[in-house]
Amino acid sequence: MSINYVSIDAGNGFTNAATLKGKSVKTVGFPSIRAMSRADDFDIEGFGSVNYPIYNWQGLRYVVGDDASLISLDSVESHRGYNRYGNEMQRFFMAVAMYQLGLKSSDIDLTMFVPPSLLIEQKDTILSRFEDVNNQLAILPEGERKPIIYNLVNINIVPEGIGAATCFMLDKRGKPSQSASELSGNVLFVDIGMYTTDVVLLQNGAFNRESLSTATSEGFGIADRILSPLAEEVRKKAADFSAINLYDIDRALRNGLKTGEFTVSSGLSNIDIEERFNAYKGAFSNAVADLLDSQYSSLRNVQKVVLVGGGATFINDLLAETYPNRTATLENYSSMKDVSPLEANVIGGLRLSLMKQLQTE
Ligand SMILES: Nc1ncnc2c1ncn2[C@@H]1O[C@H](COP(=O)(O)OP(=O)(O)OP(=O)(O)O)[C@@H](O)[C@H]1O
Ligand SMILES: [Mg+2]
Repeated sequence: MSINYVSIDAGNGFTNAATLKGKSVKTVGFPSIRAMSRADDFDIEGFGSVNYPIYNWQGLRYVVGDDASLISLDSVESHRGYNRYGNEMQRFFMAVAMYQLGLKSSDIDLTMFVPPSLLIEQKDTILSRFEDVNNQLAILPEGERKPIIYNLVNINIVPEGIGAATCFMLDKRGKPSQSASELSGNVLFVDIGMYTTDVVLLQNGAFNRESLSTATSEGFGIADRILSPLAEEVRKKAADFSAINLYDIDRALRNGLKTGEFTVSSGLSNIDIEERFNAYKGAFSNAVADLLDSQYSSLRNVQKVVLVGGGATFINDLLAETYPNRTATLENYSSMKDVSPLEANVIGGLRLSLMKQLQTE
């Protein structure tokens, strides 16, 4: 059986995944949330029913991503924090991502991501969690006749941020890239996620290992700085909003980025959260600037700060006001234009595995 190379960043907020289909890269992404489905499979004559994918996993049925927060009558499950890597829920999101990428039962070379400061501490634990399930992920999406089995023949664990930096070092085929020269001097890769912010220092394109242990700020991300306080404010506005949670706010913000309308709706009530979103965004950008100032001496020896992760979309412009000429997103690099900041880690991870493949050929 041939091996499929898959790179998955099943983060605290979003699961992003990439694989190769022929010569082109295919990606998928969905919020890292799920809810149990209790619906039976039957039709009521004359009625249509809402259609959404259901995944059978370890004897239970789940709805995933935005479907979970929109359709579920039950509580939404997520796992934010340090013990999630390689655990049951993360393995589930990985299996769903592989299925959404269009992969059927096959051997998989998996590249996955952890916050940099966890790498040394948790690498063996994560690998042993996969060994406990014989390095196999078995999922039965509704509509399939038999379970789909992903055989993980190889698991590469890469620090978040490094994946993103790899996009500069290697080209689409995993070969050394021309854009590596754009990383001369000291460059900080700041990966701002849902729950963590990771800062990785590269010196002339080489990874500074000393920076690894202090690289991750836990509880310092979009959830704690923007979504939770916004949800709390909205809940207080009207009785209709009393059940609004951070996933509802997240959906509203993602919708706002697309449509320009930042509205939360519940029952008969609507509320525009754009102004308050901007306020929290500003405060978060200042907090990131403070973090960089204190950890990296006001960026005195840093030539460039490259922002990736979902937070990059939110605060890049604001941070650029604090550090003019020194802040960049992937869009600022010609070779990186087609890499979204949310997918930077997974694209880099895929390129890393291609490089290894080239070396063994
Ligand atoms: N274009 C976009 N599409 C989806 N989400 C976006 C977009 N722009 C910003 N976001 C925000 O980014 C969040 C996901 O960010 P990201 O994928 O970096 O988090 P994560 O990697 O899961 O978290 P962590 O790194 O803490 O584990 C979304 O929940 C949303 O709030
Ligand atoms: Mg992340």
